[in-house]
Amino acid sequence: MTNNITWHAPTVTRGQREELNGHKSFILWLTGLSGAGKSTLAHRIEEILFKRGCRTYVLDGDNVRQGLCRDLGFSPADRQENIRRVGAMGKLMADAGLIVITAFISPFRVDRDSIRALLEEGDFIEVYCDAPLQVCEERDVKGLYQKARKGVIPEFTGISSPYEVPLHPEIIVQTGRDTIDSCALQIIEYLDSQEKLTTTHKKANHT
Ligand code: ADX
Repeated sequence: MTNNITWHAPTVTRGQREELNGHKSFILWLTGLSGAGKSTLAHRIEEILFKRGCRTYVLDGDNVRQGLCRDLGFSPADRQENIRRVGAMGKLMADAGLIVITAFISPFRVDRDSIRALLEEGDFIEVYCDAPLQVCEERDVKGLYQKARKGVIPEFTGISSPYEVPLHPEIIVQTGRDTIDSCALQIIEYLDSQEKLTTTHKKANHT
């Protein structure tokens, strides 16, 4: 499918874009059950980073599935394609100098690992949003668990379709127990510790 296609190297490099922005670019990949708080957390992290002058964008399952992935359902093959497209898109956005925060269930290890493999070391930061199924089901913000239990929604993650817990995520946040603010701060602390929010020329000033 990629016969007769060559990659056209940009003359403005990613490194130059990062210097201009004053921070590194990367993908912060949030994974977890529906209702675990991924989207809320993604937007909270974005707010904090935005206030610190970072250039960011959130890619969210419910939104992306209304456009780029509107032709996809929830079979394992469709979920795989969903994640593949988001990974490819996220990689381009990171190449454009952005901090990309994604919020997808992304239930399959092999699919998450293939995005990791697509990126350079350190550019894929996997965050496991750990909330027990029982908690997500009790919250049932969208009423989908109830429908899934009744069999109205087939192949629902955690009920009738599997979720594979990450084996070696960079970060685990207890979104079933801790507040969104506390989880967001844990993630920001990790990014600071990895010097992701500065570049060599421009040190972050967020006092
Ligand atoms: S993923 O599995 O392909 O990563 P994605 O994150 O894009 O899923 O979409 C998940 C969202 O779709 C859920 O938050 C929920 O609102 C909705 N949804 C609808 N049907 C299902 C289903 N069968 N399983 C999981 N989520 C579903």
